[in-house]
Amino acid sequence: MNPPLLHVENLVVRYGRITALDDVSLHVDAGETVAIVGPNGAGKSTLLSAIAGLVRPVHGNLSFQGEPILGQSLERTVRRGIALVPEGRHVFAGLTVLENLRIGAVIRRDHAAVTAEIDRFMQIFPILGTRRDEPAGRLSGGEQQMLVIARALMSDPALLMLDEPSLGLAPSITDQVYELIADLGKQGLSVLVVEQNADRALQAANRTCVINSGRVRLSGPSQRLAADPDFEAAYFGIGGRAA
Ligand SMILES: Nc1ncnc2c1ncn2[C@@H]1O[C@H](COP(=O)(O)OP(=O)(O)O)[C@@H](O)[C@H]1O
Ligand SMILES: [Mg+2]
Repeated sequence: MNPPLLHVENLVVRYGRITALDDVSLHVDAGETVAIVGPNGAGKSTLLSAIAGLVRPVHGNLSFQGEPILGQSLERTVRRGIALVPEGRHVFAGLTVLENLRIGAVIRRDHAAVTAEIDRFMQIFPILGTRRDEPAGRLSGGEQQMLVIARALMSDPALLMLDEPSLGLAPSITDQVYELIADLGKQGLSVLVVEQNADRALQAANRTCVINSGRVRLSGPSQRLAADPDFEAAYFGIGGRAA
């Protein structure tokens, strides 16, 4: 069998005395959408930060496409094909939509392909096309979320990681964002999405991991987890069984 695209093994991350991740293991196979769900403070963002190379684990292993990536910088992980869309929709507000997209492609040398891809994104996200020359700060929250996803895709990743893409968005806008995530999955992109909104995550992902207080409490196919009577307890950290 092929190794998983992303393999996270026994990861421990500490911030001073706080243990944010405590022996977390999971994997993402090529073409799969995996969700990490858990309440505020569970360690979800820390997990994505550790994979992306923004925080250094004190223990554990990380590999991507069969190669070790533990301890690599964010720049190296982006070059290897991991793109992170952090929480909070950080656009460069004073730059235009087009300039924001170009920034996502800074690691690439294939300039003609980048230009072609920007044109393609303008079609996939018509709103970005209509507003390509406007400052990104003028877009609505949902449009900004589309822009930061498109910007992350500009690095041509093999794995797209999204941190709480629905946070603060109206349900109808969240629907649009998740339609986009589903489309990307259908096109074969591997996705690791972090959510507090468990229902959204279970619908979107092939597999889901519930984390709480830095530990994986439950994991498996989303369909099975959606029907698991232990799901809520695992999510809220009241005696869920370890995976
Ligand atoms: N930079 C930091 N310094 C100290 N503690 C942090 C830092 N970032 C996160 N934490 C703590 O680590 C734990 C996990 O946080 P986080 O990964 O942000 O959780 P989530 O994304 O699930 O809300 C929390 O207890 C949080 O307070
Ligand atoms: Mg977070």
